[in-house]
Amino acid sequence: MASKSQTASVIGPGKVPVGVKINGQTLQAEFEPSTTLLDAMREYWNLTGAKRVCDRATCGACTVLLDGVRVYACSILAIDVGVSEVTTIESLPDSDPVKLAFVANDAMQCGFCTPGFVMSCKGFQAEYPNPTADDMLKGMGGNICRCGSYVGIHKAVSQAVAAHARAKPAAAKARPSKRAHAKTARGRRK
Ligand code: FES
Ligand code: FES
Repeated sequence: MASKSQTASVIGPGKVPVGVKINGQTLQAEFEPSTTLLDAMREYWNLTGAKRVCDRATCGACTVLLDGVRVYACSILAIDVGVSEVTTIESLPDSDPVKLAFVANDAMQCGFCTPGFVMSCKGFQAEYPNPTADDMLKGMGGNICRCGSYVGIHKAVSQAVAAHARAKPAAAKARPSKRAHAKTARGRRK
C-alpha cells in the first residue's frame, strides 16, 4: 500500500482553477482537468492562432513553444504546463523574420496550417542553427499542409533559417544539442 507521501493528488472531476503563463502573461480560468492546452487557449483565453485539426499529435496545426521548444498543444493538458512558459503565434510582431519569409515566399494557400508552420520554424531554427537540407526535411516533418504548399514553405523556412544564422553567426557553428533533441522528443514532435 502506498504511503501518504507516495499518493498522487487527485483533482476533478469538475472545474478547477488553472493558470498558465502564455506570451508573458499568466492567464487564468476554471475548466475540467482534462482540458488540453489547445482547448484552453482557444476556448477560454481567446488565443485562436493555434488550430485544431487532427487533435492527436499528427498534423502540427496546433504547434506552440513550451520554454522555447516545439510541442503539439493538442497533446498537453493545460494543468500539466506548470511553471513552463508558452509562446504562441500571437506573440510575434508583423516584422518577425519568419512571418515575413512566409509572406515573401507565398508559402500558403488557405493559411490554416500557417501558424503551426511558423511556430515550428521558430523552434526549428533555435534547435538547428546550421541545418542541412536533410535536417530541414526531418525537422519540419511534424507539420502537414493539406493544400500542399510545400515548395513555398520550404523556401520560407530556408530563408528564415539563413537570416537567423546570419544574425547569430556564433550559434550557427553549433550542431543541435542533446538537450534540444530530448525536449523535442518529450513534446511528441516527430
Ligand atoms: S491539432 Fe495538434 S497536431 Fe494536429
Ligand atoms: S495552406 Fe492550406 S493547409 Fe496549408
